[in-house]
Amino acid sequence: MKLYIAVGTAVLLVMAIFIIVFVAYYQQKQIRQQLALKELQEKYRKELMAATLQAQEHERRRIAQDLHDEIGTMLSVTKLSLNQLGRTVEHNDPGSTMLVQKTRSLLDETISNVRRISRDLVPTTLERFGLVSALEELAEKASHGEVHVELSCSEKIPVLAPHLNLTLYRIAQELTNNAIKHANASNIVIDLHCRPGEVLLSVVDDGHGFDLDEILKDKRRGLGLRNIESRLSVIDGHVTFDVARGRGSRIIIQVKNPRPEVQVEVETV
Ligand SMILES: Nc1ncnc2c1ncn2[C@@H]1O[C@H](COP(=O)(O)OP(=O)(O)OP(=O)(O)O)[C@@H](O)[C@H]1O
Ligand SMILES: [Mg+2]
Repeated sequence: MKLYIAVGTAVLLVMAIFIIVFVAYYQQKQIRQQLALKELQEKYRKELMAATLQAQEHERRRIAQDLHDEIGTMLSVTKLSLNQLGRTVEHNDPGSTMLVQKTRSLLDETISNVRRISRDLVPTTLERFGLVSALEELAEKASHGEVHVELSCSEKIPVLAPHLNLTLYRIAQELTNNAIKHANASNIVIDLHCRPGEVLLSVVDDGHGFDLDEILKDKRRGLGLRNIESRLSVIDGHVTFDVARGRGSRIIIQVKNPRPEVQVEVETV
């Protein structure tokens, strides 16, 4: 009898252990499946975002090309015709000569505006000369009147992959524009530094700052900061907002650089 009880208990025990192991194994499997699904969803989201950003850049390039090749060319031809007209009315009719001169200067202004807009749409300096030169140009162009923008960067900046260069450039552009538009800042510093395997970009201003929580809650807020986060999510980058109302802002971008071995010398500013 005792033997039966012992055997029965042992069988029950084995069955219980078996059930526990099976349930644990099943739960583990479910967790693994859920993780795999999440990873897949995250991968898909990143790919979708990367494709959207790429399409956006493509569209900017197309608009820049159309502006330059079509509108720019038409304006140049119009200027030639105007010059011809100017020569025929010259000396005979002072009133018309004045009008031609006025139209010529308006046309010149339009031509240079079209050039500027098409150059701003596509960062040609970035593609030709790299990130440091493009940021230098950005700082130079953004400096205007009371606002002084400067670039500060470490002696050695690694050569970055083109998509990292573009991401960092577009972010610097947005943060600098924000500092000019919203902060009422006099001094803005774009800072580019490197740590092993990592690039740090920060934009610091001495303006009146802002309350980040308030901005994030605002449903009608602009797209700039949101776009920065979207761009960074594609490359596993990170943004830190060292901001508050009543003091200057510092916004820091951290991006992993998988090609840290290639180094390029640049001057320290
Ligand atoms: N450096 C800054 N100093 C002060 N306020 C800022 C600064 N950067 C952003 N802000 C505030 O954060 C808000 C959101 O910025 P965001 O770039 O997302 O939108 P926006 O600049 O208003 O519009 P968009 O970028 O779409 O043209 C701004 O409207 C502004 O109030
Ligand atoms: Mg903005």
